[in-house]
Amino acid sequence: MDALARRPAGRVPLWMMRQAGRYLPEYRALRAEAGSFLALCRTPELACRATLQPIERFGLDAAILFSDILVVPDALGCGLAFTDGEGPRLESPVRSEGDVDGLGRLDPADLSYQAEAVRMCKRELGGRTPLIAFAGAPFTLACYAVDGSGGEFLEARAMMRGNPEAFGRLVGKLSDAVSSCLLAQAEAGADALMVFDSWAGLVPRDMADGLLEAPLKRIVSEIRESGCGVPLIAFWRNASDLAEMAVETGVDALGIDWRSDFGELSGRVGDKVALQGNLDPAVLLAGGEAVRREALRILRSHRRSAGHVFNLGHGIHKDTPIESVEVLVETVSGFSPGDG
Ligand code: CP3
Repeated sequence: MDALARRPAGRVPLWMMRQAGRYLPEYRALRAEAGSFLALCRTPELACRATLQPIERFGLDAAILFSDILVVPDALGCGLAFTDGEGPRLESPVRSEGDVDGLGRLDPADLSYQAEAVRMCKRELGGRTPLIAFAGAPFTLACYAVDGSGGEFLEARAMMRGNPEAFGRLVGKLSDAVSSCLLAQAEAGADALMVFDSWAGLVPRDMADGLLEAPLKRIVSEIRESGCGVPLIAFWRNASDLAEMAVETGVDALGIDWRSDFGELSGRVGDKVALQGNLDPAVLLAGGEAVRREALRILRSHRRSAGHVFNLGHGIHKDTPIESVEVLVETVSGFSPGDG
């Protein structure tokens, strides 16, 4: 929490995107017990156990709620399915202007399992680490809502240019849903909120203010107006050229993807926001020596004495060896911000 507020702290805290995932044998066992990924997300007791697994194994400095960004379009009626080896699919995608206008508002009761999981995690963590809750950003959710699954998002990009008014209305509706989802998690006790715009890199630059900046600004102001005082982290993947624009939204921290130069960004915007990142998850597949070298390079590249939350530059890969994560924890926890 100090790092997010850019207050000096003795060391750089560490957590990893997708830290509760298939690289952990205990996660694979829990997922088998649950029967499916979605059952794991929708059963607070199981989601809570998954959330705590990486904390118990590695002693990481933050827990992130076990859930998925696609539970929001699911709650709006898009029908989420996960097939093994194929990834997520929305069964009723939003293909036409009529589909956009037919989309209802989010009923918080449809995501009550998420708020319940937040309350359980807070209780189980007992203050050991802060708990981060999250949602997908409106643009990334719109990509999945229109195409139904990941890929090149050609349908979404066609609608963006072909019917920008309808696409903008979809983003607006998703913004309301995201705000209400994040607020419910903050009220349930989450210590910080993260907004994942994993596909921000697909936004044509002349549309970035309308599709990335304005929706996030709206979400930030709704959270601020609620008075809950919870810090916000934004992840605009593959769009670090827009870091100044992201800062303008009023978030407290930016998640930095692994292709971006962490040191360069800390020089550009590190006096205004905390930065979270940005080890390439592939480095964890290259073995301990590479992990140590790369982690130290990133730690030393930060040009500020405060405001770094160490993380990966995207989600951890399922074939990651546990020993690589252990080396990462050892390297980051042994580094003092003054060492740079
Ligand atoms: O970080 C965490 O540990 C918290 C949980 C979390 C998950 N997904 C669990 C998950 C979070 C924060 C997410 C975010 C998410 N989900 C994003 C944004 C971040 C990013 O990765 O860009 C996106 C785009 C999704 C949608 C999604 N969910 C995809 C594309 C996939 C398939 C890819 C894959 O790795 O299989 C998922 C599945 C998913 N979400 C898994 C986990 C642990 C793997 C599911 C399994 O157990 O089989």
